Amino acid sequence: MPNSALRVRSSSWSSVRNDIESFWLPFTANRSFKARPRLIARAKNMHYYTSEGRAVLDATAGLWCCNAGHSRDPIVAAIQAQAAELDFAPPFQFAHPIAFETASRLSALAPGDLNHVFFCNSGSEAADTALKIALAYHSAIGQGSRQRLIGRERGYHGVGFGGISVGGITNNRKFFGSLLSGVAPLPATYDREHQAFSRGEPDWGAHKADELERIVALHDASTIAAVIVEPMAGSTGVLPPPKGYLQRLRAICDKYRILLIFDEVITAFGRLGYAFAAERYGVIPDMITFAKAVTSGSVPMGGVIVRDHIHDAFMSGPDHAIELFHGYTYSAHPLACAAAIATLDLYRDERLFERANGLENVWADAFHMLQDAPNVLDVRTVGLVGAVELAPNPDGAGVRGFEVMERLFHEEGMMARISADTIAISPPLIVSEAEIGEIVEKLSRVLKKVA
Ligand SMILES: Cc1ncc(COP(=O)(O)O)c(C=O)c1O
Repeated sequence: MPNSALRVRSSSWSSVRNDIESFWLPFTANRSFKARPRLIARAKNMHYYTSEGRAVLDATAGLWCCNAGHSRDPIVAAIQAQAAELDFAPPFQFAHPIAFETASRLSALAPGDLNHVFFCNSGSEAADTALKIALAYHSAIGQGSRQRLIGRERGYHGVGFGGISVGGITNNRKFFGSLLSGVAPLPATYDREHQAFSRGEPDWGAHKADELERIVALHDASTIAAVIVEPMAGSTGVLPPPKGYLQRLRAICDKYRILLIFDEVITAFGRLGYAFAAERYGVIPDMITFAKAVTSGSVPMGGVIVRDHIHDAFMSGPDHAIELFHGYTYSAHPLACAAAIATLDLYRDERLFERANGLENVWADAFHMLQDAPNVLDVRTVGLVGAVELAPNPDGAGVRGFEVMERLFHEEGMMARISADTIAISPPLIVSEAEIGEIVEKLSRVLKKVA
Protein backbone atom coordinates (compact mmCIF):
# COMPACT_ATOMS: atom_id res chain seq x y z
CA MET A 1 0.00 0.00 0.00
CA PRO A 2 1.47 3.44 -0.89
CA ASN A 3 2.21 5.68 2.05
CA SER A 4 -0.33 8.28 0.92
CA ALA A 5 -3.09 5.73 1.30
CA LEU A 6 -2.33 5.15 4.98
CA ARG A 7 -4.57 6.88 7.49
CA VAL A 8 -2.98 10.15 8.57
CA ARG A 9 -5.23 10.78 11.51
CA SER A 10 -4.12 8.55 14.35
CA SER A 11 -7.55 7.17 15.05
CA SER A 12 -11.14 7.23 14.14
CA TRP A 13 -13.58 7.11 17.03
CA SER A 14 -16.78 6.81 15.01
CA SER A 15 -17.41 4.11 12.42
CA VAL A 16 -14.64 1.54 13.19
CA ARG A 17 -15.46 -1.77 11.53
CA ASN A 18 -14.92 -4.88 13.67
CA ASP A 19 -12.42 -6.19 11.17
CA ILE A 20 -11.05 -9.71 11.53
CA GLU A 21 -7.84 -8.59 9.80
CA SER A 22 -6.64 -6.16 12.49
CA PHE A 23 -5.81 -8.68 15.19
CA TRP A 24 -2.58 -10.60 14.54
CA LEU A 25 -3.02 -13.69 16.69
CA PRO A 26 -0.04 -15.01 18.69
CA PHE A 27 1.28 -18.55 18.10
CA THR A 28 -1.60 -19.13 15.66
CA ALA A 29 -1.99 -20.12 12.03
CA ASN A 30 -3.66 -16.76 11.28
CA ARG A 31 -4.93 -17.40 7.75
CA SER A 32 -6.49 -20.70 8.61
CA PHE A 33 -8.01 -19.24 11.80
CA LYS A 34 -9.52 -16.31 9.94
CA ALA A 35 -10.97 -18.63 7.31
CA ARG A 36 -12.76 -20.62 10.04
CA PRO A 37 -12.50 -18.85 13.43
CA ARG A 38 -12.65 -20.62 16.75
CA LEU A 39 -14.25 -17.83 18.74
CA ILE A 40 -14.87 -17.95 22.46
CA ALA A 41 -17.32 -15.43 23.91
CA ARG A 42 -18.00 -16.51 27.48
CA ALA A 43 -16.90 -19.01 30.13
CA LYS A 44 -18.17 -20.56 33.34
CA ASN A 45 -16.61 -23.31 35.43
CA MET A 46 -15.64 -26.20 33.10
CA HIS A 47 -17.02 -24.68 29.91
CA TYR A 48 -16.42 -22.09 27.28
CA TYR A 49 -19.29 -20.83 25.13
CA THR A 50 -19.07 -19.63 21.56
CA SER A 51 -20.83 -16.47 20.39
CA GLU A 52 -23.73 -18.66 19.22
CA GLY A 53 -23.97 -20.11 22.73
CA ARG A 54 -22.48 -23.54 21.91
CA ALA A 55 -20.81 -25.09 24.98
CA VAL A 56 -17.16 -26.15 24.62
CA LEU A 57 -15.67 -28.38 27.32
CA ASP A 58 -12.39 -26.84 28.45
CA ALA A 59 -9.91 -29.71 28.53
CA THR A 60 -6.88 -27.41 28.73
CA ALA A 61 -7.69 -24.98 31.59
CA GLY A 62 -7.47 -22.27 28.95
CA LEU A 63 -3.75 -22.37 28.34
CA TRP A 64 -2.74 -24.27 31.50
CA CYS A 65 -4.12 -21.33 33.53
CA CYS A 66 -7.65 -21.69 34.79
CA ASN A 67 -7.05 -24.34 37.44
CA ALA A 68 -10.03 -23.21 39.56
CA GLY A 69 -12.33 -23.23 36.53
CA HIS A 70 -13.69 -20.18 34.75
CA SER A 71 -15.14 -16.89 35.94
CA ARG A 72 -15.48 -18.16 39.49
CA ASP A 73 -17.68 -15.85 41.57
CA PRO A 74 -15.22 -15.08 44.42
CA ILE A 75 -12.44 -14.20 41.95
CA VAL A 76 -14.75 -12.03 39.85
CA ALA A 77 -16.00 -10.22 42.98
CA ALA A 78 -12.44 -9.62 44.25
CA ILE A 79 -11.33 -8.12 40.94
CA GLN A 80 -14.42 -5.90 40.73
CA ALA A 81 -14.00 -4.63 44.29
CA GLN A 82 -10.29 -3.97 43.80
CA ALA A 83 -10.88 -2.01 40.59
CA ALA A 84 -13.15 0.32 42.56
CA GLU A 85 -10.78 0.58 45.56
CA LEU A 86 -7.34 1.03 43.98
CA ASP A 87 -6.77 0.69 40.24
CA PHE A 88 -3.01 1.17 40.16
CA ALA A 89 -0.11 2.17 42.38
CA PRO A 90 3.45 2.50 41.14
CA PRO A 91 5.55 -0.46 42.25
CA PHE A 92 8.86 1.43 42.03
CA GLN A 93 9.55 3.17 45.37
CA PHE A 94 5.89 2.74 46.43
CA ALA A 95 3.67 -0.21 47.16
CA HIS A 96 0.16 -1.15 48.22
CA PRO A 97 -0.91 -3.46 51.06
CA ILE A 98 -2.18 -6.48 49.15
CA ALA A 99 1.10 -6.80 47.23
CA PHE A 100 2.65 -7.79 50.58
CA GLU A 101 -0.27 -10.06 51.39
CA THR A 102 0.05 -11.84 48.02
CA ALA A 103 3.81 -12.30 48.47
CA SER A 104 3.30 -13.63 52.00
CA ARG A 105 0.66 -16.10 50.84
CA LEU A 106 2.93 -17.40 48.05
CA SER A 107 5.97 -17.68 50.33
CA ALA A 108 3.89 -19.62 52.83
CA LEU A 109 2.86 -22.07 50.09
CA ALA A 110 6.38 -22.55 48.72
CA PRO A 111 8.64 -25.15 50.33
CA GLY A 112 11.78 -24.53 52.39
CA ASP A 113 13.17 -21.03 52.61
CA LEU A 114 11.69 -19.88 49.30
CA ASN A 115 10.49 -16.77 51.13
CA HIS A 116 10.76 -13.77 48.79
CA VAL A 117 8.63 -12.96 45.77
CA PHE A 118 9.57 -10.71 42.86
CA PHE A 119 6.45 -9.97 40.78
CA CYS A 120 6.06 -9.58 37.03
CA ASN A 121 3.21 -10.21 34.59
CA SER A 122 3.80 -13.41 32.68
CA GLY A 123 5.74 -16.62 32.50
CA SER A 124 8.16 -15.15 29.98
CA GLU A 125 8.94 -12.24 32.25
CA ALA A 126 9.29 -14.63 35.18
CA ALA A 127 11.88 -16.72 33.32
CA ASP A 128 13.89 -13.69 32.24
CA THR A 129 13.65 -12.24 35.75
CA ALA A 130 14.97 -15.45 37.31
CA LEU A 131 17.91 -15.59 34.88
CA LYS A 132 18.77 -11.95 35.62
CA ILE A 133 18.56 -12.51 39.38
CA ALA A 134 20.91 -15.50 38.99
CA LEU A 135 23.51 -13.42 37.15
CA ALA A 136 23.20 -10.45 39.50
CA TYR A 137 23.37 -12.73 42.55
CA HIS A 138 26.72 -14.17 41.52
CA SER A 139 27.98 -10.69 40.87
CA ALA A 140 26.76 -9.59 44.32
CA ILE A 141 28.67 -12.40 46.06
CA GLY A 142 31.88 -11.75 44.13
CA GLN A 143 31.47 -14.61 41.63
CA GLY A 144 30.92 -12.46 38.56
CA SER A 145 32.62 -14.98 36.27
CA ARG A 146 29.58 -17.22 36.65
CA GLN A 147 27.70 -16.03 33.57
CA ARG A 148 26.85 -19.19 31.74
CA LEU A 149 23.20 -20.36 31.74
CA ILE A 150 22.15 -23.97 31.26
CA GLY A 151 18.77 -24.86 29.76
CA ARG A 152 17.46 -28.06 28.25
CA GLU A 153 16.48 -29.32 24.83
CA ARG A 154 12.68 -29.36 24.47
CA GLY A 155 12.46 -26.79 27.28
CA TYR A 156 10.06 -23.84 27.08
CA HIS A 157 10.63 -20.72 29.14
CA GLY A 158 8.52 -18.23 27.25
CA VAL A 159 9.44 -15.89 24.46
CA GLY A 160 11.75 -13.23 25.92
CA PHE A 161 15.34 -13.29 24.71
CA GLY A 162 16.46 -14.95 27.93
CA GLY A 163 13.74 -17.58 27.75
CA ILE A 164 14.32 -18.49 24.11
CA SER A 165 18.07 -18.60 24.66
CA VAL A 166 17.77 -21.26 27.38
CA GLY A 167 14.75 -22.86 25.72
CA GLY A 168 15.01 -25.83 23.42
CA ILE A 169 12.38 -25.34 20.72
CA THR A 170 13.91 -24.83 17.29
CA ASN A 171 11.11 -22.70 15.80
CA ASN A 172 11.15 -20.36 18.79
CA ARG A 173 14.87 -19.75 18.28
CA LYS A 174 15.82 -19.95 14.64
CA PHE A 175 14.18 -16.73 13.40
CA PHE A 176 15.55 -14.49 16.15
CA GLY A 177 19.25 -14.07 15.68
CA SER A 178 22.11 -15.24 17.79
CA LEU A 179 20.32 -15.04 21.18
CA LEU A 180 22.24 -14.87 24.47
CA SER A 181 25.78 -16.13 24.32
CA GLY A 182 27.17 -18.58 26.85
CA VAL A 183 24.19 -20.91 26.99
CA ALA A 184 24.64 -24.69 27.05
CA PRO A 185 21.77 -27.18 26.87
CA LEU A 186 21.16 -30.35 28.81
CA PRO A 187 19.66 -33.16 26.72
CA ALA A 188 15.90 -33.72 26.80
CA THR A 189 14.80 -36.43 29.21
CA TYR A 190 12.36 -38.11 26.83
CA ASP A 191 13.13 -41.25 24.87
CA ARG A 192 10.15 -43.18 23.50
CA GLU A 193 12.08 -46.37 23.18
CA HIS A 194 12.57 -46.52 26.96
CA GLN A 195 9.59 -44.55 28.26
CA ALA A 196 6.52 -45.19 26.09
CA PHE A 197 3.11 -45.34 27.80
CA SER A 198 4.34 -44.00 31.13
CA ARG A 199 2.02 -43.35 34.08
CA GLY A 200 3.61 -40.74 36.29
CA GLU A 201 7.39 -40.43 36.24
CA PRO A 202 9.13 -42.89 33.89
CA ASP A 203 11.61 -45.34 35.43
CA TRP A 204 14.24 -44.71 32.78
CA GLY A 205 16.27 -41.53 32.35
CA ALA A 206 17.62 -40.19 35.68
CA HIS A 207 21.13 -40.51 34.23
CA LYS A 208 20.32 -37.70 31.78
CA ALA A 209 21.02 -35.31 34.68
CA ASP A 210 24.64 -36.47 34.69
CA GLU A 211 25.16 -34.53 31.47
CA LEU A 212 25.51 -31.52 33.76
CA GLU A 213 28.77 -33.05 35.00
CA ARG A 214 30.00 -33.12 31.40
CA ILE A 215 29.07 -29.46 30.88
CA VAL A 216 30.86 -28.54 34.11
CA ALA A 217 33.93 -30.49 33.01
CA LEU A 218 33.96 -28.62 29.69
CA HIS A 219 33.30 -25.07 30.92
CA ASP A 220 34.28 -25.22 34.62
CA ALA A 221 31.82 -24.49 37.42
CA SER A 222 33.35 -21.05 37.95
CA THR A 223 31.68 -19.92 34.68
CA ILE A 224 28.21 -21.36 35.33
CA ALA A 225 25.48 -19.30 37.00
CA ALA A 226 22.33 -21.39 36.83
CA VAL A 227 20.39 -24.33 35.45
CA ILE A 228 16.77 -23.75 34.49
CA VAL A 229 14.34 -26.62 33.84
CA GLU A 230 10.62 -27.24 33.87
CA PRO A 231 10.02 -30.02 36.42
CA MET A 232 7.64 -31.44 33.80
CA ALA A 233 8.14 -30.08 30.29
CA GLY A 234 4.65 -29.06 29.20
CA SER A 235 4.73 -27.12 25.95
CA THR A 236 6.80 -29.65 24.02
CA GLY A 237 4.31 -32.39 24.62
CA VAL A 238 4.15 -33.32 28.33
CA LEU A 239 7.43 -34.93 29.36
CA PRO A 240 7.34 -35.96 33.02
CA PRO A 241 10.74 -36.11 34.73
CA PRO A 242 12.27 -39.57 35.05
CA LYS A 243 12.31 -40.90 38.61
CA GLY A 244 15.29 -39.43 40.48
CA TYR A 245 16.25 -37.00 37.69
CA LEU A 246 15.44 -33.75 39.50
CA GLN A 247 17.06 -34.98 42.71
CA ARG A 248 20.24 -35.77 40.76
CA LEU A 249 20.22 -32.34 39.14
CA ARG A 250 19.88 -30.75 42.59
CA ALA A 251 22.82 -32.75 43.94
CA ILE A 252 25.11 -31.75 41.05
CA CYS A 253 24.09 -28.09 41.33
CA ASP A 254 24.85 -28.21 45.07
CA LYS A 255 28.23 -29.79 44.43
CA TYR A 256 29.29 -26.92 42.14
CA ARG A 257 27.28 -24.06 43.74
CA ILE A 258 25.20 -23.64 40.61
CA LEU A 259 21.73 -22.18 41.15
CA LEU A 260 18.80 -24.42 40.23
CA ILE A 261 15.69 -22.72 38.84
CA PHE A 262 12.40 -24.62 38.46
CA ASP A 263 10.15 -23.03 35.86
CA GLU A 264 6.79 -23.88 37.40
CA VAL A 265 4.68 -21.69 35.14
CA ILE A 266 2.62 -24.78 34.27
CA THR A 267 3.32 -27.14 37.15
CA ALA A 268 2.51 -24.82 40.08
CA PHE A 269 -0.91 -24.53 41.73
CA GLY A 270 -2.12 -28.08 41.71
CA ARG A 271 -1.42 -29.31 38.19
CA LEU A 272 0.71 -32.16 39.59
CA GLY A 273 -1.34 -32.51 42.79
CA TYR A 274 0.72 -30.12 44.93
CA ALA A 275 1.12 -26.37 45.32
CA PHE A 276 4.44 -26.70 43.50
CA ALA A 277 6.08 -29.60 41.66
CA ALA A 278 9.08 -28.97 43.95
CA GLU A 279 6.96 -30.44 46.74
CA ARG A 280 5.92 -33.48 44.71
CA TYR A 281 9.56 -34.27 43.96
CA GLY A 282 10.99 -33.32 47.36
CA VAL A 283 13.51 -30.98 45.73
CA ILE A 284 13.98 -27.38 46.80
CA PRO A 285 15.29 -25.27 43.93
CA ASP A 286 16.91 -21.88 44.50
CA MET A 287 14.16 -20.12 42.58
CA ILE A 288 10.69 -21.01 41.35
CA THR A 289 9.01 -19.12 38.52
CA PHE A 290 5.21 -19.03 38.43
CA ALA A 291 2.40 -17.34 36.44
CA LYS A 292 -0.84 -18.57 34.82
CA ALA A 293 -2.82 -20.41 37.55
CA VAL A 294 -1.73 -18.01 40.31
CA THR A 295 -4.85 -16.00 39.36
CA SER A 296 -6.57 -18.95 37.65
CA GLY A 297 -5.83 -17.03 34.45
CA SER A 298 -8.17 -14.15 35.37
CA VAL A 299 -5.61 -11.30 35.46
CA PRO A 300 -2.04 -11.55 34.14
CA MET A 301 0.51 -12.14 36.91
CA GLY A 302 3.85 -13.88 37.13
CA GLY A 303 6.76 -13.92 39.51
CA VAL A 304 9.87 -15.52 40.93
CA ILE A 305 10.09 -16.95 44.44
CA VAL A 306 13.66 -16.90 45.73
CA ARG A 307 15.42 -18.46 48.69
CA ASP A 308 16.67 -16.41 51.62
CA HIS A 309 20.35 -16.58 50.71
CA ILE A 310 19.73 -15.15 47.25
CA HIS A 311 17.51 -12.32 48.43
CA ASP A 312 19.80 -11.50 51.36
CA ALA A 313 22.87 -11.26 49.12
CA PHE A 314 21.33 -8.17 47.52
CA MET A 315 20.46 -6.42 50.78
CA SER A 316 23.68 -4.47 51.22
CA GLY A 317 25.03 -1.07 50.21
CA PRO A 318 23.69 2.36 51.16
CA ASP A 319 20.10 2.49 52.43
CA HIS A 320 18.87 4.76 49.64
CA ALA A 321 20.32 2.59 46.87
CA ILE A 322 18.19 0.33 44.67
CA GLU A 323 19.34 -3.25 45.21
CA LEU A 324 18.14 -4.79 41.93
CA PHE A 325 17.82 -2.77 38.76
CA HIS A 326 14.86 -4.69 37.42
CA GLY A 327 11.07 -4.51 37.54
CA TYR A 328 7.94 -3.83 35.52
CA THR A 329 5.36 -1.04 35.62
CA TYR A 330 2.74 -3.65 36.39
CA SER A 331 4.72 -5.73 38.92
CA ALA A 332 2.22 -6.64 41.69
CA HIS A 333 -0.65 -4.86 39.96
CA PRO A 334 -3.52 -4.40 42.45
CA LEU A 335 -6.06 -6.26 40.28
CA ALA A 336 -3.68 -9.18 39.84
CA CYS A 337 -2.98 -9.29 43.59
CA ALA A 338 -6.70 -9.25 44.42
CA ALA A 339 -7.28 -12.02 41.89
CA ALA A 340 -4.35 -14.06 43.26
CA ILE A 341 -5.54 -13.85 46.86
CA ALA A 342 -9.09 -14.86 45.90
CA THR A 343 -7.72 -17.71 43.78
CA LEU A 344 -5.45 -19.02 46.54
CA ASP A 345 -8.43 -18.87 48.93
CA LEU A 346 -10.46 -20.95 46.48
CA TYR A 347 -7.66 -23.51 46.04
CA ARG A 348 -7.47 -23.81 49.83
CA ASP A 349 -11.21 -23.84 50.59
CA GLU A 350 -12.09 -26.34 47.85
CA ARG A 351 -8.92 -28.37 48.48
CA LEU A 352 -8.24 -28.36 44.76
CA PHE A 353 -4.60 -29.47 44.92
CA GLU A 354 -5.61 -32.48 47.03
CA ARG A 355 -8.50 -33.06 44.61
CA ALA A 356 -6.08 -33.22 41.65
CA ASN A 357 -3.88 -35.59 43.62
CA GLY A 358 -6.82 -37.83 44.45
CA LEU A 359 -7.95 -37.93 40.80
CA GLU A 360 -4.53 -38.81 39.36
CA ASN A 361 -5.21 -42.56 39.14
CA VAL A 362 -8.73 -42.15 37.77
CA TRP A 363 -7.32 -39.75 35.19
CA ALA A 364 -4.46 -42.07 34.21
CA ASP A 365 -6.77 -45.13 33.96
CA ALA A 366 -9.17 -43.25 31.67
CA PHE A 367 -6.54 -41.50 29.58
CA HIS A 368 -4.41 -44.56 28.92
CA MET A 369 -7.42 -46.19 27.23
CA LEU A 370 -6.48 -43.99 24.27
CA GLN A 371 -3.44 -46.13 23.57
CA ASP A 372 -5.53 -48.38 21.32
CA ALA A 373 -6.69 -45.51 19.09
CA PRO A 374 -5.27 -45.27 15.55
CA ASN A 375 -1.81 -43.75 14.97
CA VAL A 376 -0.97 -43.50 18.67
CA LEU A 377 2.78 -43.68 19.33
CA ASP A 378 2.66 -42.85 23.02
CA VAL A 379 0.34 -41.87 25.87
CA ARG A 380 1.80 -40.10 28.92
CA THR A 381 0.10 -38.98 32.12
CA VAL A 382 1.23 -37.27 35.30
CA GLY A 383 -0.87 -35.33 37.81
CA LEU A 384 -3.90 -33.99 35.94
CA VAL A 385 -2.06 -33.84 32.63
CA GLY A 386 -2.16 -36.22 29.71
CA ALA A 387 -0.65 -36.35 26.25
CA VAL A 388 -1.35 -38.50 23.21
CA GLU A 389 1.47 -38.51 20.69
CA LEU A 390 0.36 -39.37 17.16
CA ALA A 391 2.35 -40.47 14.16
CA PRO A 392 2.58 -37.57 11.68
CA ASN A 393 0.52 -38.07 8.55
CA PRO A 394 2.21 -38.08 5.11
CA ASP A 395 1.39 -34.37 4.58
CA GLY A 396 3.92 -33.42 7.20
CA ALA A 397 4.52 -32.90 10.92
CA GLY A 398 1.68 -31.20 12.74
CA VAL A 399 -1.03 -31.71 10.10
CA ARG A 400 -2.75 -34.56 11.93
CA GLY A 401 -2.49 -32.79 15.30
CA PHE A 402 -4.02 -29.63 13.84
CA GLU A 403 -6.93 -31.59 12.39
CA VAL A 404 -7.58 -33.22 15.75
CA MET A 405 -7.67 -29.81 17.45
CA GLU A 406 -10.04 -28.34 14.85
CA ARG A 407 -12.40 -31.31 14.80
CA LEU A 408 -12.53 -31.44 18.59
CA PHE A 409 -13.58 -27.80 18.68
CA HIS A 410 -16.06 -27.75 15.82
CA GLU A 411 -17.48 -31.26 15.96
CA GLU A 412 -17.15 -32.32 19.58
CA GLY A 413 -17.28 -29.03 21.48
CA MET A 414 -13.97 -29.51 23.26
CA MET A 415 -10.82 -27.44 23.56
CA ALA A 416 -7.50 -29.28 23.31
CA ARG A 417 -3.94 -28.08 22.98
CA ILE A 418 -1.51 -29.31 20.36
CA SER A 419 2.23 -29.38 20.09
CA ALA A 420 2.78 -30.62 16.54
CA ASP A 421 1.20 -34.09 16.58
CA THR A 422 0.96 -34.38 20.34
CA ILE A 423 -2.40 -33.59 21.90
CA ALA A 424 -1.96 -32.17 25.42
CA ILE A 425 -4.85 -32.23 27.86
CA SER A 426 -4.90 -30.45 31.25
CA PRO A 427 -8.42 -29.77 32.52
CA PRO A 428 -9.30 -27.39 35.35
CA LEU A 429 -8.86 -29.11 38.72
CA ILE A 430 -12.63 -28.98 39.27
CA VAL A 431 -13.14 -31.58 36.50
CA SER A 432 -15.58 -34.35 37.50
CA GLU A 433 -15.06 -38.05 36.87
CA ALA A 434 -17.91 -37.91 34.34
CA GLU A 435 -16.15 -35.06 32.52
CA ILE A 436 -12.91 -37.07 32.48
CA GLY A 437 -14.87 -39.81 30.71
CA GLU A 438 -16.32 -37.25 28.32
CA ILE A 439 -12.86 -35.88 27.46
CA VAL A 440 -11.56 -39.36 26.64
CA GLU A 441 -14.65 -40.26 24.59
CA LYS A 442 -14.48 -37.08 22.53
CA LEU A 443 -10.78 -37.57 21.88
CA SER A 444 -11.26 -41.20 21.01
CA ARG A 445 -14.00 -40.41 18.46
CA VAL A 446 -11.87 -37.76 16.76
CA LEU A 447 -8.75 -39.94 16.69
CA LYS A 448 -10.77 -42.53 14.78
CA LYS A 449 -11.99 -39.89 12.32
CA VAL A 450 -8.48 -38.62 11.50
CA ALA A 451 -7.09 -42.12 11.07
C1 LIG B 1 7.20 -23.46 31.55
C2 LIG B 1 6.75 -22.18 30.94
N1 LIG B 1 7.49 -21.07 31.11
C3 LIG B 1 7.14 -19.90 30.60
C4 LIG B 1 5.98 -19.78 29.85
C5 LIG B 1 5.62 -18.47 29.23
O1 LIG B 1 4.52 -17.92 29.86
P1 LIG B 1 3.78 -16.66 29.20
O2 LIG B 1 3.11 -17.14 27.97
O3 LIG B 1 2.84 -16.23 30.30
O4 LIG B 1 4.82 -15.63 28.93
C6 LIG B 1 5.18 -20.90 29.65
C7 LIG B 1 3.95 -20.81 28.85
O5 LIG B 1 3.27 -21.77 28.56
C8 LIG B 1 5.58 -22.13 30.20
O6 LIG B 1 4.88 -23.25 29.99
